[in-house]
Amino acid sequence: MNLVTDDLAVDLGTSRTRVFAKGRGVVVNEPSLLAYDLPSREVVAVGLEALELEGRASEDIQIISPLQDGVVADSTFAGKLLERYIRKARDGRSTITHRVLISVPADASDIEHYALRYAAREAGVSNVYFVNKGFVAILGSGVSVDDQRATMVVDIGAGTTTIAAMVHNHLIFTRTLRVGGNDMDAALIDMIKMNHNVLVGPRTAERVKIELGCALEVDQESSTNVKGRSTIAGNPEMAHVNSVEIHEAIDPIIGRIVTCVQDALEALPPEASADIYDRGFIIAGGTSLLSGLDERLSRDTELDVTQTESPQRAVIRGLGLLYENPLALRRAILRGDG
Ligand SMILES: Nc1ncnc2c1ncn2[C@@H]1O[C@H](COP(=O)(O)OP(=O)(O)OP(=O)(O)O)[C@@H](O)[C@H]1O
Ligand SMILES: [Mg+2]
Repeated sequence: MNLVTDDLAVDLGTSRTRVFAKGRGVVVNEPSLLAYDLPSREVVAVGLEALELEGRASEDIQIISPLQDGVVADSTFAGKLLERYIRKARDGRSTITHRVLISVPADASDIEHYALRYAAREAGVSNVYFVNKGFVAILGSGVSVDDQRATMVVDIGAGTTTIAAMVHNHLIFTRTLRVGGNDMDAALIDMIKMNHNVLVGPRTAERVKIELGCALEVDQESSTNVKGRSTIAGNPEMAHVNSVEIHEAIDPIIGRIVTCVQDALEALPPEASADIYDRGFIIAGGTSLLSGLDERLSRDTELDVTQTESPQRAVIRGLGLLYENPLALRRAILRGDG
């Protein structure tokens, strides 16, 4: 029998899951969502299919995001998600996955590790390795592993902000703040409810953020219409929201991210600080695309800020690069059972 084996890597993000297969690139990039049928207790859809069902399916079907704030909020469902995506990543020929790398925040708990390892085993993967998410975010932002000078990356995703600094293949600093784009969406839902008495859903709030959200004070006002449910009459209702109130709603969250970056900069060893002073730092993650965020971070830290290419993919790119660099792979591994 001709067995084809696979080497995979998984970035289990709060909003999206991405799977890299060695030799084939990114083979899965879908929402981290499951549709669960309560009566039969079965997962009926994952990813894009589950997203389609959201808000449209019967009451029996629950749409679940098993990852919250970048961590496993529900280990059973996170496991099911991982298992489905590992199976999906196999190209049909491969029956066995030799090993899987999973990026996790530096402070992930034993329970999370256990849940993910268990899920990978259920999907038939014998070797599971956990790697530091900050380390791979740096690699995936185009920093060479051999770089002799310090580099720092701030990956701002949907549920987390990961800050990491590296010198010559060594992580010298890493921290995770449980704040990201989802918190901005939640703040917008609250603001629209308070200011306009309309309750909107998370997808609407996200659209508003992407269209009109800005990390800098807005001088020119623009606005958009949002539809939701009136909190007074309960009927469908439309509200007119403007960029000033949007900025005010998300500003406290941006402030928390800025403070965390400033704290990180203060915690760096002096030599590394000097390097960062010269070169600035890199931003990655989907939320780094928020209009004006690069400029805001640059202004508040007085450093150069560089945006990385397709920033949502920084972590999965970095994971893929580990397969090309055994030394970096050894350095990146937090726990393994190979
Ligand atoms: N143009 C944009 N402006 C503002 N926010 C954006 C934009 N594009 C994407 N986002 C936000 O980026 C976030 C998704 O980013 P990303 O895919 O990096 O997160 P993730 O990896 O799933 O989450 P995490 O790493 O925190 O677990 C979402 O909150 C999304 O709304
Ligand atoms: Mg991410």
